[in-house]
Amino acid sequence: MQLGLKFIIHLSAALPLVWLYWGAFNDTIGADPVESVIHFTGIGALNILLITLLVTPLTKRFKQPLFMKCRRLLGLWAFTYALLHLANFIAFELQLDLSLFVDEVIERPYITMGMFAFCVLFLLAVTSFNRVKKTMGKSWQKLHNWVYVGAVAVVIHFYWSIKSDIYEPGLYAVILLWLLYLRREKLKRWLKRV
Ligand code: HEM
Repeated sequence: MQLGLKFIIHLSAALPLVWLYWGAFNDTIGADPVESVIHFTGIGALNILLITLLVTPLTKRFKQPLFMKCRRLLGLWAFTYALLHLANFIAFELQLDLSLFVDEVIERPYITMGMFAFCVLFLLAVTSFNRVKKTMGKSWQKLHNWVYVGAVAVVIHFYWSIKSDIYEPGLYAVILLWLLYLRREKLKRWLKRV
């Protein structure tokens, strides 16, 4: 059952990427493939991140520990999409010009916020493995609570990147606020200690 669910998660996350890059290299995903790829991976990363945050409330509601066993996998897929999003931006939008990337991070607030969110997701991904979790002890949970800060930063990054229609980031902000509201007690305790 667990293996089956993990297989479905891998397939649902990997197949859209195969479709995306096949389309990008064969010119079938719109007039501006670079924009489409950055958009798709950015939205994909945010969607999977929010699904990851839904796992704990769902586990509690349906008393189904199977979901919990897939949480790390979902988090790692969210990070993979974010990594591709960043890599596509640097490779295709900036033509691998790293000094230009540094300028973008410094000068454009929405890129600064994206970079901050990416650093949080990176730290969570590299410390997500059981062996690291054991070594880190109590500080592991403290670090992984930063997922909420990272998710807020992603929604701000999205909102700041939009030039006109704010409906979509607004909708994501509402979903995120609802997910944070579901864990309000835990967040209150955490904020008191920080
Ligand atoms: C250094 C890190 C990042 C860079 C350089 C970056 C860059 C970009 C760029 C260039 C856009 C398109 C803005 C436009 O349409 O003009 C964008 C949009 C977006 N990014 Fe990022 N991003 C970063 C991190 C992240 C992370 C970590 C996530 C999610 C986990 C994310 C999610 C999104 C979303 C949801 C959008 C809106 C999609 C769209 O409408 O195009 N970004 N980002």
